[in-house]
Amino acid sequence: IKRIGVFTSGGDSPGMNAAIRAVVRSAKYYNIEVIGIRRGYEGMINGELFAMDVKSVANILQRGGTMLKTGRSEQFRTAEGRRLAYDQLVKHGIDGLVAIGGDGTFNGARIFGAEYDMPVVGVPGTIDNDLFGTDFTIGYDTAINTVIDAVDKIRDTAESHNRVFIVEVMGRDCGLIALRTGIASGAEAIIIPESKQGTAELLKRLETGRQDKASKIVMVAEGDDVGGAFEIGRKVKEKFPQYDTRVSILGHIQRGGKPTCMDRVLASRIGVAAVEALRDGHRNEMIGVIHNEISYTPFELSTKHHNEINNNLLRIVEILSI
Ligand code: F6P
Repeated sequence: IKRIGVFTSGGDSPGMNAAIRAVVRSAKYYNIEVIGIRRGYEGMINGELFAMDVKSVANILQRGGTMLKTGRSEQFRTAEGRRLAYDQLVKHGIDGLVAIGGDGTFNGARIFGAEYDMPVVGVPGTIDNDLFGTDFTIGYDTAINTVIDAVDKIRDTAESHNRVFIVEVMGRDCGLIALRTGIASGAEAIIIPESKQGTAELLKRLETGRQDKASKIVMVAEGDDVGGAFEIGRKVKEKFPQYDTRVSILGHIQRGGKPTCMDRVLASRIGVAAVEALRDGHRNEMIGVIHNEISYTPFELSTKHHNEINNNLLRIVEILSI
């Protein structure tokens, strides 16, 4: 491997910059040249490629977002788009790729890797923590800390006004952000797609739960199968007109901000491991950390299965939210 390309794709996540830095600096360490590709697969197709050196990644370790920009490419979904992308890589003498992103990024990489002779390895960068093959994805820790900071603030006002708050968090169709932040912020109930509990159970919980609590927080994952926070809020209002109910959707603040120490270290470890994996002949695999050890998971598996929900965590909510 003499010259690698690096890009970020899909939704950004805090720690992506730390991963880019780790890729560029470890490549330098191994005398490999690095070409940065802007705006993910779209930039690859359009030839937005530029040479990077150790200085290009100075002072980005602590910054949120991604200096390489990101996006979701419709064109790369087509065979013609992928051919144009491959032509650009050949033109720039690239013989290996590091893809930093999530589910969609690795699905694209898997298809591309099957069509063309181009080794690709993946670095899991997504706040959703929905990839199989790593205990945590880069950005998840920062996002859940952002969420609990916000929910602690909501709790203050909820407690002052004796209100019920339905708080919706991100995660696409995965409930891991809601589950952990629900526990950490003392939510009275958590609704996640994986538990398939619907609203009936929530309404029962509110009915049978302690009535002398000043505030109640219901944490909802955006991918819930009951129609989102507003729909849940509507049902709660209908059944409990005596409650002063509000809905709060946290939205994209969850994707921004300085990465936590955990995310910076995870990104640095996986970034270095990605370059070493390419040198060692790995291809079509996502690099992760499982039980504190670097792991390699074929793209096909990493995107097909979600990280499983630990039922014990759900049980903890039941026990502690009385
Ligand atoms: O995958 C990261 C994520 O933030 C999801 O949690 C969310 O469903 C989605 O991206 C939002 O995407 P967009 O920024 O395109 O609205």
